Amino acid sequence: MKAHVTAHKDYTVSRIDDRLYGAFLEHLGRAVYTGIYEPGHPTADENGFRGDVLELVRALNVPVVRYPGGNFVSAYNWEDGIGPREDRPVRLDLAWHTSETNEVGIHEFADWCQAAGTEMMLAVNLGSRGLDAARNFLEYCNHPGGSYWSDLRAKNGRREPWDVKLWCLGNEMDGPWQVGHKDAHEYGKLAAETAKAMRAFDKSLELVVCGSSHSDMPTYPEWERVVLEHTYEVVDHVSLHMYFRNPEKNTANYLALNHKLDRYIGTVASAINYVKGKKRSKRDVYISFDEWNVWYHSNKKDRAILDGGNGWPLAPGLLEDIYNFEDVLQVGCILNTFIRRSDVVKIGCIAQLVNVIAPIMTERGGPAWRQTIYYPYYFASIHGRGTALNLLVDCPGYDSDHDDNVPYVDVSGVHNEEEGTLTFFLVNRHGTEAIDVEVRLQGFAGGTVIDHQVMTHTDLEAVNTTANQQNVRPHSGSGARVADGALAASLPAYSYQMIRVRL
Ligand code: AHR
Repeated sequence: MKAHVTAHKDYTVSRIDDRLYGAFLEHLGRAVYTGIYEPGHPTADENGFRGDVLELVRALNVPVVRYPGGNFVSAYNWEDGIGPREDRPVRLDLAWHTSETNEVGIHEFADWCQAAGTEMMLAVNLGSRGLDAARNFLEYCNHPGGSYWSDLRAKNGRREPWDVKLWCLGNEMDGPWQVGHKDAHEYGKLAAETAKAMRAFDKSLELVVCGSSHSDMPTYPEWERVVLEHTYEVVDHVSLHMYFRNPEKNTANYLALNHKLDRYIGTVASAINYVKGKKRSKRDVYISFDEWNVWYHSNKKDRAILDGGNGWPLAPGLLEDIYNFEDVLQVGCILNTFIRRSDVVKIGCIAQLVNVIAPIMTERGGPAWRQTIYYPYYFASIHGRGTALNLLVDCPGYDSDHDDNVPYVDVSGVHNEEEGTLTFFLVNRHGTEAIDVEVRLQGFAGGTVIDHQVMTHTDLEAVNTTANQQNVRPHSGSGARVADGALAASLPAYSYQMIRVRL
């Protein structure tokens, strides 16, 4: 099978916001406790942060981490996580039916972000709380000093403000499962008033308002219209979430799901434009896709804890999906979609970062290792920065439950002018046929392949484990070359590839 792709230097989508490659870390399961934080672990530093995890996170060059939830934030008192550790209360976490010791709070998370080389994206609780708790939290984090909350921060050991610019106005407020769930009008009004108060403190904040939890929600996309009509002039991004699943083991349908994702983004972009037009507004609002990943492998196992059958355990294993090779292809397709829609999607957060539906897994007292999906996320984060190209793709396709004529090759391209490189991320969705791809490079002078990484496996269900951490990993590819103004490569059946060209 053959595929023809055209890349033209001037035919671009957008400059990619580096924050497209962000991540999410929630007080959930073992994400925080025994994930990033485990005092006594052989690699732990003086703050109790696991050095092995920090190393894997630093390698990803994660630009931003959303915290502390997720569903958790909707019943969270941020004040529980400040002050002397011995005075911090143990609380029942209603979202995940567990106990929260509050050993890690905003100070510890900020220290961890500094060690990891990333920025904070904080969420305020608009479920069980509201505007008042949000404005106090903001003052605690960002005011230099001389006020009640900023002086308390200094007393708790941090004189300099953190000056966090990116804030989420609650989490998934459209979801009936959310503590303090609201309808679109109730939430829209609360979000607008909270945003107004936060902006009264600092006009330069970037605020993210809750959109839909997923595109099958009965309130979608009316939710976006109503919420934006309340908030358009005071927010910068609409938050969207989507999780991908394949319980039926139908690979063709599974790998077409990014077409549903693409439609979701397009529909919400239309809702944004509709409200912009209706309000005769000059400002732009973008999409923050701040929860996305594969999530289904652990569903059955988690039921007992979530139903309360185990009482209120401390940091139990929850949402510990073990990813397989098929999920590599899925994550490659998802990231390609974000790159192709980087004109409207400015922030993306893989959900989550450690242990909980995560690219990085740990064992209590033991090693940390890379799940299969670590790699496509790694390649996109490291090499997917620059300008997204608007590629013309001519490739045979197949019909799926989510779309017809889904091309067998899913591809995105990024031009990094500073580095003088072109990077292509390609997935072959065909299960039995290799595909010869030719990418015509128009408007670019010359080029040499400088890096070619391939992921294939004989078993779609192959996973990495503590005992076999290298089972699914990239290998250097061969055969990709640039000649006569075109890049040529062969994609084996069910494969992921990254090809980089120096111009
Ligand atoms: O990431 C796991 C959960 O998924 C988050 O807490 C919630 O926002 C979403 O439903």
